[in-house]
Amino acid sequence: MCAKSLSKRRESHLIVILFIISSTCAEEYRIVTTWDNRTIDHPDRPVVIRLERHDVSAFKISVDAPFYNDPPDPNGTVGEPFFTLWDYEVVEVFFLNDKNQYVEIELCPWGQHIVLLLDGQRNTIRHSLFIEFMATRNSTHWQGVAFIPVDLLPPSVTKMNAYAIHGSDENRVYESLYPVAFNSTPGADFHNLAAFKPFNASIIVEYVPVTYSEVWFDSFVGIRTLEIKHTWNGTLLDSKDIVKLQIGTQSGLGLIIQIDAPLYGDPRPPSPSGWPSNGLSSYEVIHLFLLGENDTKTLELQFGPMGHYAVVFWTGRTQLADLEREITYRSAMYSNRWMGEALIPLAYLPPRVYKCNAHSAHGPQGNQRQVNSLYPANSNEVRPDFQNYGNYKAIDMSMIYPGNDDLVCSDVWAANVNCRAEPPTPSAAGHAPIGHYALLLITALISTFIMVA
Ligand SMILES: *[C@@H]1O[C@H](CO)[C@@H](O)[C@H](O)[C@H]1NC(C)=O
Ligand SMILES: *[C@@H]1O[C@H](CO)[C@@H](O)[C@H](O)[C@H]1NC(C)=O
Ligand SMILES: *[C@@H]1O[C@H](CO)[C@@H](O)[C@H](O)[C@H]1NC(C)=O
Ligand SMILES: *[C@@H]1O[C@H](CO)[C@@H](O)[C@H](O)[C@H]1NC(C)=O
Ligand SMILES: *[C@@H]1O[C@H](CO)[C@@H](O)[C@H](O)[C@H]1NC(C)=O
Ligand SMILES: *[C@@H]1O[C@H](CO)[C@@H](O)[C@H](O)[C@H]1NC(C)=O
Repeated sequence: MCAKSLSKRRESHLIVILFIISSTCAEEYRIVTTWDNRTIDHPDRPVVIRLERHDVSAFKISVDAPFYNDPPDPNGTVGEPFFTLWDYEVVEVFFLNDKNQYVEIELCPWGQHIVLLLDGQRNTIRHSLFIEFMATRNSTHWQGVAFIPVDLLPPSVTKMNAYAIHGSDENRVYESLYPVAFNSTPGADFHNLAAFKPFNASIIVEYVPVTYSEVWFDSFVGIRTLEIKHTWNGTLLDSKDIVKLQIGTQSGLGLIIQIDAPLYGDPRPPSPSGWPSNGLSSYEVIHLFLLGENDTKTLELQFGPMGHYAVVFWTGRTQLADLEREITYRSAMYSNRWMGEALIPLAYLPPRVYKCNAHSAHGPQGNQRQVNSLYPANSNEVRPDFQNYGNYKAIDMSMIYPGNDDLVCSDVWAANVNCRAEPPTPSAAGHAPIGHYALLLITALISTFIMVA
């Protein structure tokens, strides 16, 4: 491995070239068996996976594989997470630690990916994490390069396995780097952790993480952290301008949103604080947009530093009739930052939230207004368009709020839009409306945050 071979070869001038090759920390793996240890039917061109270090914050996975074009392109956005990618043609790499915590990385020849964190066998605590991934193909082969944030590794990785899948229905083929014994189990199971083999993580990272990263920690406690750190058109912000948003559902009664943002000291909105505030979007404000599956329904939440807020329901680009929508929201200002905390009734969420975006804005209207974005606009856009769903990216809400999977509109949405009429199932308690009284009660529960933060 890297460091060892490096020092050995330093002794000889004759193998300087070898030294250069071996000093790049990398290891190549060939998948030559099916999941149950039979020889694959393309042994001359197996799937080749190369793992190597990239920089302090990321490692690299390169794939060189036969291309079957079966199943076809899942047609998800190239470069973005695609849920259920495992049903398509994929190459997968898993990194595991001794506590059965692992990261599962799936790469598709068509450029989509999915990355999951698991705490215990098959126990997904997070999915749709972002990586940088590019794939190219010709009629017979595909190649892919992925850069994986080191933060996605569980602490102290000791084992790994890798897989490839192609074909449809009865012709679906499952291949494993480290298979199980022939005839030992009835079906392919990529989560059979006993089949994994030792892996020295210093192949892919110089400093192997031994503690949980923030991503892992957030995943355990059910928090999604979002950072607004670009201008609306993609320039990286100074760290003092970064806005941090945390979304969680720990209480089970509502969506808790915590805000940590710079304070610019813009004029105070004229409406009273603590109530829905029309026109807040022209003041110093933070917008959070939660988009439901199929891009038809959006919940927009606006928060100001002085306790003002607004809740806006959208269907496409149409704002639903001005509804007085109350939430519990409080904020506190410090010298140059402010903090806010809100409790949003789950009934306000559109069914199946799957993407989001967020923005911060301040300054006068017009050219001088500064707008920053979580996921910035594409380069061809000339002004901020918060309703451009092409700029939204995945958020795995179901992991922190199981009711998110429910297709049925909540009473709030059903009263205002033509939701698909589907019989509510008795068990689908996910979108239970929340009473005013309960809201007040929860205010007491969450109000400690601002004091201690
Ligand atoms: C892993 O590789 C590094 C660098 O080559 C080496 O120092 C370390 O001892 C190895 N760890 C194990 C557990 O083999
Ligand atoms: C993706 O689109 C192509 C072209 O329209 C189509 O042939 C293919 O079946 C689609 N894939 C899926 C999974 O539907
Ligand atoms: C496709 O790419 C593979 C691997 O790079 C190469 O060996 C093969 O010749 C290419 N095939 C065609 C038809 O270009
Ligand atoms: C798979 O087959 C090879 C060659 O027959 C054998 O050496 C190896 O032990 C088998 N692996 C398992 C997990 O049974
Ligand atoms: C981004 O938008 C600002 C106006 O908001 C403009 O001045 C600037 O040139 C744009 N930058 C890029 C890279 O397009
Ligand atoms: C999105 O569209 C698909 C396909 O039409 C449908 O099955 C699904 O129920 C829709 N989801 C929602 C939340 O309406």
